[in-house]
Amino acid sequence: MINFKQKIAKAISDVTKLEEDELENYIEIPPNTDLGDYAFPCFKLAKDLRKAPPIIANEIKENIKTDESIIEKIDVVGGYLNIFINKETLTKTVLEEVANTKEKYGSSNIGKGKNVVIDYSAPNIAKPFHIGHLRSTVIGGSLYKIYNFLGYNSVGINYLGDWGLQFGKVMAGISLWKNEYDFKNDEMGSILKIYIRFNQEEKDKPELTNLAREYFKKLEDGEKETHKLWEHIRKISLENYEKTYKLLNSKFDSYNGEAYYNDKMMPIVDELKDKGLLKESQGAQVVDLEKYNMPPCIIVTSAGTTIYATRDLAALKDRINKYNFDKLIYVVGNEQALHFKQVFKVMELMGYGEYVSRCTHVPFGLVVDKDGEKIGSRKGNSVFLEDILNEAIDKVKDIINEKNPSLEDKDEVAKKVGVGAIIFNDLSNSRIKDEIFDWDMLLNFQGETGPYIQYIYVRTKSIIDKAGYIPNIEDVDFSKLAEAEAINILKLLYQFNEIIQNAADKNEPSILARYLIDLSQSFSTFYNEYKIITQKREVQDARLFLTYAVRNSIKNRSRVTRYGNAK
Ligand code: ARG
Repeated sequence: MINFKQKIAKAISDVTKLEEDELENYIEIPPNTDLGDYAFPCFKLAKDLRKAPPIIANEIKENIKTDESIIEKIDVVGGYLNIFINKETLTKTVLEEVANTKEKYGSSNIGKGKNVVIDYSAPNIAKPFHIGHLRSTVIGGSLYKIYNFLGYNSVGINYLGDWGLQFGKVMAGISLWKNEYDFKNDEMGSILKIYIRFNQEEKDKPELTNLAREYFKKLEDGEKETHKLWEHIRKISLENYEKTYKLLNSKFDSYNGEAYYNDKMMPIVDELKDKGLLKESQGAQVVDLEKYNMPPCIIVTSAGTTIYATRDLAALKDRINKYNFDKLIYVVGNEQALHFKQVFKVMELMGYGEYVSRCTHVPFGLVVDKDGEKIGSRKGNSVFLEDILNEAIDKVKDIINEKNPSLEDKDEVAKKVGVGAIIFNDLSNSRIKDEIFDWDMLLNFQGETGPYIQYIYVRTKSIIDKAGYIPNIEDVDFSKLAEAEAINILKLLYQFNEIIQNAADKNEPSILARYLIDLSQSFSTFYNEYKIITQKREVQDARLFLTYAVRNSIKNRSRVTRYGNAK
């Protein structure tokens, strides 16, 4: 595709003799199209050229040599050059690229040969997979796809929380209350109920906590029966998660969780000792981080067991050896920010600073209801993700039965719309903000929602079906797409690669989700204003090809955000 910014920078550089790359960085996109397609702020040059910005702007305008097929017009407003590009060239370059690249439109290979390891989802086995884990699953899954689209080799790791005191709690609970629950018919449900009950009761009964510690110690010591029970709980929990992952269309390349690192923990403890980093504090072994304004990082507790941080250190070291990564991204809630700072600092002190600089903690906010109350917790009012997804599907089924009872594949459609709505709601706001979970909002077909985008997608599809053909690019007369509404769409299509690059740089899928909303809205505006199927064949071909380009884009981009499964 033609790179307009580069062409503009080159033309300005020819006049000013300043460095092209630098000039390109200064180019902005004005807030509204009356001010041009691009704007160049001349005050950035005032220091170098020792003149007032409006004078610079006028001089550039007078002397610039522009190719009319690229730049149509330049206005000077104050210290700005407002640049209008040739719309027919824009249309041609975008649509030809769509025709050539099809589903790869907007992709690139800047990541070729580089590995990006993404640690995401990571639910804690034996605890309910609640809505909080949805965010990691969905954001991580989206980043996985984004990096792949940019040519990286993404590796998805589900670092299961399959070790730790929660097993001690569940096992202690089972030993006490097994007969009170229906293990025969609902094993997973019983385990979860026991876990929740244990957490409630231990608040007043510290002896329960001690019992849980004993069980976990037995597990760490490799006691046979305890280990067998652990294996069993892990297995049925995973089977249960798989149901949710299937609904979400989530896949992982590795399920190496915390337990996988059991035999790799002593070597880390020894290495820390050898490097003189461990010290004793109240019976525990810790790395002192006072110098860095952080609490000490506990490595071995006073009870002699390892903890979460120990396992993350072992896992990071293992990943360094295994994946030769360019980036290692941890998609984990904001409440663990300190944990990752500590782990990264300890690794740095151990001499792995170079690798630590390639690690990023990508945090996200909580899931809250309309009133700002946190959803899903240990309190017993846990909201299970699978139940929520099924509720979404049921709600959409009700809407279909009311509005379109004769629809074919009702169940399939309800699944795509319901699950898509939940995923999109999660992705569409900047990740660090708390996500508001509100049924009416996320299922609103007119709002900035998944169902709205799916609706527009189906529109584009049915227009093409009605026409019965997709025009050949050779038959498209680019001058027939001159309306402002069409140009708006083309500009968005043109920006896509930059948008996805930006989403990757910031590890922020919401940039892409917002983009999908903009694209859908711009198509809707065009479609409400102009007939696509018309008597005039050249007009129809041009508009139909544009419709095809939008359809293609929503489909690809939805895939990239891993939102729904556009058919
Ligand atoms: N299982 C943890 C939790 O739910 C998240 C693990 C995230 N990944 C990691 N490498 N620590 O809190």
